[in-house]
Amino acid sequence: MARDLRQFIQLLEARGQLRRIPALVDPDLEIAEIANRMLQAGGPGLLFENVKGADFPVAVNLMGTVERICWALNMEQPSDLERLGQKLATLQQPKPPKTVAQAIDFGKILFDVVRAKPGRNFFPACQQVVLQGDELDLNRLPLLRPYPGDAGKIITLGLVITKDVETGTPNVGVYRLQLQSRQTMTVHWLSVRGGARHLRKAAQAGKKLEVAIALGVDPLIVMAAATPIPVDLSEWLFAGLYGGSGVALAKCKTVDLEVPADSEFVLEGTITPGEVLPDGPFGDHMGYYGGVEDSPLVRFHCLTHRRDPLYFTTFSGRPPKEEAAIAIALNRIYTPILRQQVSEITDFFLPMEALSYKAAIIAIDKAYPGQARRAALAFWSALPQFTYTKFVIVVDKDINIRDPRQVVWALSSKVDPARDVFILSDTPFDSLDFASQKIGLGGRMGIDATTKIPPETPHEWGAPLESDPDVAAMVARRWEEYGLADLDMAAADPAAFGYEIAAKTAR
Ligand SMILES: Cc1cc2nc3c(=O)[nH]c(=O)nc-3n(C[C@H](O)[C@H](O)[C@H](O)COP(=O)(O)O)c2cc1C
Repeated sequence: MARDLRQFIQLLEARGQLRRIPALVDPDLEIAEIANRMLQAGGPGLLFENVKGADFPVAVNLMGTVERICWALNMEQPSDLERLGQKLATLQQPKPPKTVAQAIDFGKILFDVVRAKPGRNFFPACQQVVLQGDELDLNRLPLLRPYPGDAGKIITLGLVITKDVETGTPNVGVYRLQLQSRQTMTVHWLSVRGGARHLRKAAQAGKKLEVAIALGVDPLIVMAAATPIPVDLSEWLFAGLYGGSGVALAKCKTVDLEVPADSEFVLEGTITPGEVLPDGPFGDHMGYYGGVEDSPLVRFHCLTHRRDPLYFTTFSGRPPKEEAAIAIALNRIYTPILRQQVSEITDFFLPMEALSYKAAIIAIDKAYPGQARRAALAFWSALPQFTYTKFVIVVDKDINIRDPRQVVWALSSKVDPARDVFILSDTPFDSLDFASQKIGLGGRMGIDATTKIPPETPHEWGAPLESDPDVAAMVARRWEEYGLADLDMAAADPAAFGYEIAAKTAR
C-alpha cells in the first residue's frame, strides 16, 4: 500500500502505468502539451527527469485514470469507491443505529475513525533541507505554464493549509496559486472555500493568516483534500479514514501549522488581509480562459524540501483531464451519501463531458406520480456541489444511466417537452460559466424521462416490447447450432450505428 508519493510512483511503475522521460523538456507549455496527449489516450503517468531550468523531476498524469485513483485509495476497482462512500454515509447519518447489526457496523466505523487519527513525525523527510530569507527563490520550482494565454506559472496540486484563528481548526484544500515574484504567489480560492473563510476570520480578528503549501503528497491525501463532503471531520482524519491508518504530520518550521511529513516540498508564509494582486487569466476546467481577479497575496518566508525532491503537478482544461478523473471517483464516493439523503434515487451519473457536475442523470425507483420532479429538486439541494448542476435528467431504474444511448432512448420515447421539462430561472450559477447571462445567476432544467403513470398521462402507456421467454431460452440453447458462436455479441462497434467517437478532443 502506497503511503507517500514515491511509493505510489513505484506502484505505478510495477504495474506498467508510469513512463520516465529522460529528454530535456520545458515546463513552459511543453510538459502540458505532452501530458495532454497522454490524458486523451488514457495513457500512463509521466515522470520528466530532465526539466529545463530546474533541479527536480516533474510528475504529471499520475491520477489521470479512475483506475489509478482507486489504486491511490488502496482499492482495486471503481465499485470499491462506493464502499468507502457507504462508510461516510453511515458516519453522517442523522439517526442512531436501530438494530444490533447496524450498531455493530457503526461501532466498526467509529473504530476506523480512531485508527485514522493523524500521528506526529519529529524528523520529517519534508524538512531535510530548509531554505529561508534570501535563499528562498520560488523560481527554482519547476512550475508549469500550461496554456499560451496563461498569465504565468502556477501551482495546481498543492495542499493549501490554513487554520481558523479563533478555534484552531485546520482546513486543507487544493487551490491554484500564481507565481507573482521570487517569494510571493496569489491564491485563487472561491469565496465558499475553507481557506477563504479562514482569511475572513483572520481579517475580523485583525491578524495575518498563516499558510502552508504541501507539494508532492500521497495522492490519497489529495483525494481527501478535494472531497467537499458535509461530514464534520478534519481532512487529516479523512485521509486516515481513506487509507485505513493515520497520516504522519509534521509541525512547520516557521508557522503554527501541520503538514504531511512525507511531502516533497513545503512552503510556509502568511497572508495580510486586504493585500491582493491581479490573478489570471488561466485555462480552466470549462475549457476557456477565466477572468482576471484580485486574489490574496501569500508572502512566503520558508521553503523546506526532501534531499532529492520531485515535483508533482497537474493542469486544468476541457475534459478529459486529471481533475475529471478525480471528479468521477469522488462522484462514486458520493453515491451512497446521495441515496441516504434521497432514498428513491437508485443511482446517479455525472458525465465527464458535462464537466462532472453540469449535467446529472439520475435513476429512480418510481412509485408515484410527480416523483421525478421531487427527485430532481431533492438532488439539487442534497449536497452543496450539486448547486451548479444545470441539467437533471430523471429516468427509470431499468435504464443504464452510464450508457448515453439508453438515456437518449428514454428522452425520445418517454418525454413530452411541453409536459416533462421544467425550468427554474435566476438560481445560483457558477461564476466561471460563460453561458449565463448574469455572472453568478442562471437557469436550470429538469427533464422527467420516466414512464408516465396516471394522472401524469390520461391514457394507457404501451406495454414494453419483450422477447417470448421460452423462445429466448431456446435460441440461447441453439446458438452454437446456428453457427453464430464465434461472433463477439457484446462489443458492437459504435461506428456501425453512425457514431464517430473522436479519440482526441480539443484542449
Ligand atoms: C486539481 C484541482 C484543482 C482545484 N483548484 C481549485 C481552485 O483553484 N480554487 C478553488 O476554490 N477550488 C479548487 N479545487 C476544488 C477544491 O480543492 C475542493 O472543492 C476542496 O474540497 C475545497 O476544500 P474546502 O471545502 O476545505 O475549501 C480544485 C480541486 C482539484 C482536484
